Amino acid sequence: MELVRTINHLRAEVARWRTDGQRIALVPTMGALHAGHIALVGAALSAADKTVVSIFVNPTQFAPHEDLARYPRDEGGDLAKLAGAGAHLVWAPAVTEMYPEGFATRIAVEGAALPLEGTFRPHHFGGVATVVCKLILAAMPDVALFGEKDFQQLAVIRQMARDLALPVLIQGVPTVREEDGLALSSRNAYLSEDERYVAPMLFKAISEVARGRDPREAAAALLTVGFGKVDYLEARDAETLAPYVPGSGRPGRVLAAAWLGKTRLIDNVGF
Ligand code: PAF
Repeated sequence: MELVRTINHLRAEVARWRTDGQRIALVPTMGALHAGHIALVGAALSAADKTVVSIFVNPTQFAPHEDLARYPRDEGGDLAKLAGAGAHLVWAPAVTEMYPEGFATRIAVEGAALPLEGTFRPHHFGGVATVVCKLILAAMPDVALFGEKDFQQLAVIRQMARDLALPVLIQGVPTVREEDGLALSSRNAYLSEDERYVAPMLFKAISEVARGRDPREAAAALLTVGFGKVDYLEARDAETLAPYVPGSGRPGRVLAAAWLGKTRLIDNVGF
């Protein structure tokens, strides 16, 4: 497995594979890899001949008061996991490679980016869309894979790829969960022992709403088991993320974000 840092080096490697007629997959990550990321790599290996994994903690998707500085980083550990998983190339650019001096472009997605996370983290999807567009334009993969754990992010990236006619297939990969239902996330590392015990209640709450429970009741129940604040817990249309219309027969998704101590957990489930 090769490690490259620059866009030029990445492009040279990808060009070599392209000359050989090989199909290329990109798995964008922010590192601190867990089994959910490894599932993305597994899906990428099935979808293409060569798998590129990017590791880049993207500063533009964090607001100044968010957890950029304490975001977990472990490049050595990540490289070992990716080699074990069978990735072909890791691209780990420096911040200055992605955002050189004078960088002044930002992609603003509306539609699916506006509700839910868009209300609570208004800066977030602009940063995600900008970096993902740049990652895709640098690697020019046939397919780029993203976890359904960040379901709204996946919808925003699909919207951007469609609107900008990016020549790439955006593929979602199902969420990987612990045995007790907690969705794998790099941020789970922040949870204390007591918080970790309570955390699976978020999945339980959204699963109950997917089966018909009133979302307000489910949100109130989370507060009684130790969650500090529920930013949102709502049933939405799975494609547009507009409020779900009961009886519409359309695919739905229950999405939630809630705080356990200083950690904000998000999760979602289909119905
Ligand atoms: O989901 C993530 O890890 C990040 O938001 C992504 C897609 C790699 C962009 O920085």
